[in-house]
Amino acid sequence: LDAFAYQAGRLHAEGVPLSKIADAAGTPCWVYSHGALESRYRAFDAAFAGIPHLICYALKANSNQAVIKTFADLGAGADIVSEGELRRALAAGVPPERIVFAGVGKTAAEMAVALDAGILQFNVESDQELERLSQVASQMGRTAGVALRVNPDVDAGTHAKITTGTAENKFGIEIDQARAVAARTAALPGLKLSGIAMHIGSQLTSVEPYRQAFARLVDFARMLMNEDGHKLERLDLGGGLGVHYQHAPPVDLASYCAAAREALAGFPGTVVLEPGRWMVADAGILLARVQYVKRGSLKTFVILDAAMNDLIRPALYDAWHPVIPVVEPAAGHGLETVDVVGPICESSDVIATGRSMPPVAQGELVAIGVAGAYGAVMASTYNSRPLAPEVMVKGGAFSVVRSRPSYDEMIASDRLAPWQIHRT
Ligand code: LLP
Repeated sequence: LDAFAYQAGRLHAEGVPLSKIADAAGTPCWVYSHGALESRYRAFDAAFAGIPHLICYALKANSNQAVIKTFADLGAGADIVSEGELRRALAAGVPPERIVFAGVGKTAAEMAVALDAGILQFNVESDQELERLSQVASQMGRTAGVALRVNPDVDAGTHAKITTGTAENKFGIEIDQARAVAARTAALPGLKLSGIAMHIGSQLTSVEPYRQAFARLVDFARMLMNEDGHKLERLDLGGGLGVHYQHAPPVDLASYCAAAREALAGFPGTVVLEPGRWMVADAGILLARVQYVKRGSLKTFVILDAAMNDLIRPALYDAWHPVIPVVEPAAGHGLETVDVVGPICESSDVIATGRSMPPVAQGELVAIGVAGAYGAVMASTYNSRPLAPEVMVKGGAFSVVRSRPSYDEMIASDRLAPWQIHRT
């Protein structure tokens, strides 16, 4: 299924012309394909057929209720990093026993809410976190399932801002220290050591770092089981599988899965996977309208009504996203090199720099592709621009799954300080 394709010269989302969605929801807006989400989940699930596995979709990539529900209905669990994500997962119907809680900074309050909900496991990243979790759980008379997140010290070779698996990063427990932390876990009240976890980075484009890290993780787990007598039920391999933005990633699902199978051979427990981007990136676009085309002496700027507050990835990571005209360019059309930008008052407000693309004119719609992951969830209201709405398409139907806040709603939680309110 190619979720976004031209039909009769117009770009569609499944069976719906994008122009129809723009008319109904306004621009900018996010458009997600239900079919693409489903087929991604099914492919991932099928790749791991035959080994006991639990797919905990990483909510941080896209946490719209309709998206989470699509996966939950197919049997997915959730990888969460905050109380907000916990509540989103539960609200969308993810069973608590399929929820894993990651993150280096869990507060005592977050731990308590998650224990109360009865989640499967906490992926613990430090000594102090372990102590705190033990205290909170014992006070509540609960037992927390613990997976120690180890840092396998493997360079994922991805963008510096999204690599997590080397000793220079804040993530995980260094593998040399993790054996002692495992012993400590077994000794502390309120905790049950049930697994080992890792996550080495995001948007990985090579399978080699995975191979190395999986091998280190499994070696370490074996040592804990065979030499120290720990009973491990789960290995959590994290997420990070890359998608095709500008260049096809040389690591595909099949080779990723083969690396996992190879490393896991003979491991008796369940493998937990935390894919985020791979599940949703291709299933979403950001739909925008060209406001102006400004031709300068050095550059041509295509100015959209979508901006860095909507999609921050180009500004933050120099990320490349395709920009596709909604009206199919005529055969033999030329190309023009342009900067695609938004209306925000700073130069980093870019969607694409020096992009060679078919000419687009004022008033036309464009789709910014591969935007289903880390798009809407990273948006802000900078320049007091309301968050863009989200639309989900299924076949010939579409539905607004998050509405655009009104300006009144945007201002409503601001208050004047009492000394600013003057009686007349
Ligand atoms: N598990 C853990 C512990 C993580 O930290 C992450 C992502 C994932 C799973 C999911 O990784 P994925 O499969 O999506 O690569 N905002 C950045 C990406 C940050 C990823 C952070 N951690 C971006 O827009 O590229």
